[in-house]
Amino acid sequence: MSTVLIVGTQWGDEGKGKVVDVLTEQSDIVARYQGGNNAGHTVVINNTKYILHLIPSGALHKSKKCIIGNGVVIDPSALIEEIDELKSKGIDVSNNLYISKNAHIIMPYHVALDKASESKKGDGKIGTTGRGIGPSYSDKIARAGVRVIELINGETFKHILKNNLDKVNFLLENYYGQGKLDYIEILEKYLAYAKRIAPFVTDTVKMINDAYDKGERILLEGAQGTLLDIDHGTYPFVTSSNTISAGACTGLGLAPTKINSIIGIVKAYTTRVGSGPFPTELKDELGHQIQQKGGEFGATTGRPRRCGWLDGVALRYSATINGLTGIAITKLDILDGISPLKIAVAYKYNGSIIETFPHEIEILQDCEPVYETLEGWNDTTSGIDDYNKLPKNAQMYIKYIEKLLGTEVQIISTGQKRDQIIKLKDFLK
Ligand code: GDP
Ligand code: IMO
Ligand code: MG
Repeated sequence: MSTVLIVGTQWGDEGKGKVVDVLTEQSDIVARYQGGNNAGHTVVINNTKYILHLIPSGALHKSKKCIIGNGVVIDPSALIEEIDELKSKGIDVSNNLYISKNAHIIMPYHVALDKASESKKGDGKIGTTGRGIGPSYSDKIARAGVRVIELINGETFKHILKNNLDKVNFLLENYYGQGKLDYIEILEKYLAYAKRIAPFVTDTVKMINDAYDKGERILLEGAQGTLLDIDHGTYPFVTSSNTISAGACTGLGLAPTKINSIIGIVKAYTTRVGSGPFPTELKDELGHQIQQKGGEFGATTGRPRRCGWLDGVALRYSATINGLTGIAITKLDILDGISPLKIAVAYKYNGSIIETFPHEIEILQDCEPVYETLEGWNDTTSGIDDYNKLPKNAQMYIKYIEKLLGTEVQIISTGQKRDQIIKLKDFLK
């Protein structure tokens, strides 16, 4: 019996999809618990690239059960497109995808409001993915949302749509100066989506708990990263869900006592897409070099990702609030040939040294990182699958992170492909 949770420890895009794909082989169920199609999880199998947005990355292993939990927000058109695209690549999820009845739906007015609000903010914008994530979660919390069950029960859906659209159209027209959305057009489209989605819908809370009771191996796939968490991230430059490990419990109806391992995915350096503070950002040629070599361009929006050194202050915080039991370091190979390497161990602000991750945006924006400098390595680590074959300085870099976080490094990824990985521990037994 084993439940393993995969969580991003930085600002997303740490390589969660790759690690989930690798661990799926030893799992029976893979479940997403929050976020929506703002996520872009890349898995490369035999030179074919798959980008998963809503469907768990486990789907690439045929026959594994995949759950989209109640904590996820679902844009049905994006989901249908993803199902169809996977099918065109030979992956048919019609018999192994399960969608929660309680998951909330992203409506066209959520997307319109997301985009309108961002453009009105101008320079102060968050830099969202424009997928309607924030407005959909806002409606959920305001008890004005549409759940999967309401969508499928067309009558209830009609009422909610009518009420919400009246309000949203008023806002769109009078506050944002935009055109109104059409009730009939949305209704017809969404009722057609409901028919497509209905066969996948089930009570996923019962399903996952029954699976747990039967001793099945469960893998939980987080989206985004800890520093984008609505409560614990760099607010307001965050997403609108609880991205930390605790989000898996509410997002799936799985109790904390049923999670055995929590693996934090740590990219060997740091990236961030969109606006917001980033103390260790490299705005120079080296940052550009890491961006190019690491292929650091958004898997969802294609936007260039900002790159910088590893941030030990943020990672220690992340290890604490996620309760990490282990770490997976990804993209080690991207640091090949870069020397020296730096890791922030504290921040300096107004003459004081800060060792605890601050919540004031001004401090995060204006602080100066205090770096520990480590020697890099010249040999390639790309594709290495044995820890002992890693260059000594790469081993030292890994050991340094382990010590800094007080958490064991259990997986090291050295490339995009499935076999480019060092597994120091077996989790799912
Ligand atoms: P996610 O959102 O956390 O799943 O990460 P993304 O898929 O958005 O971004 C990670 C990118 O790095 C993807 O293109 C992966 O294929 C790639 N990747 C993952 N692990 C490694 C690795 O160890 N080395 C290299 N070179 N690429 C990796
Ligand atoms: P994965 O799962 C990186 C960022 C956006 C923006 C902020 C809010 O692939 O790691 P939103 O559309 O969620 O309201 O945008 O969050 N963001 C991500 N950054 N990886 C992601 O997902 C992200 N999902 C959202 O860029 O800064
Ligand atoms: Mg991503």
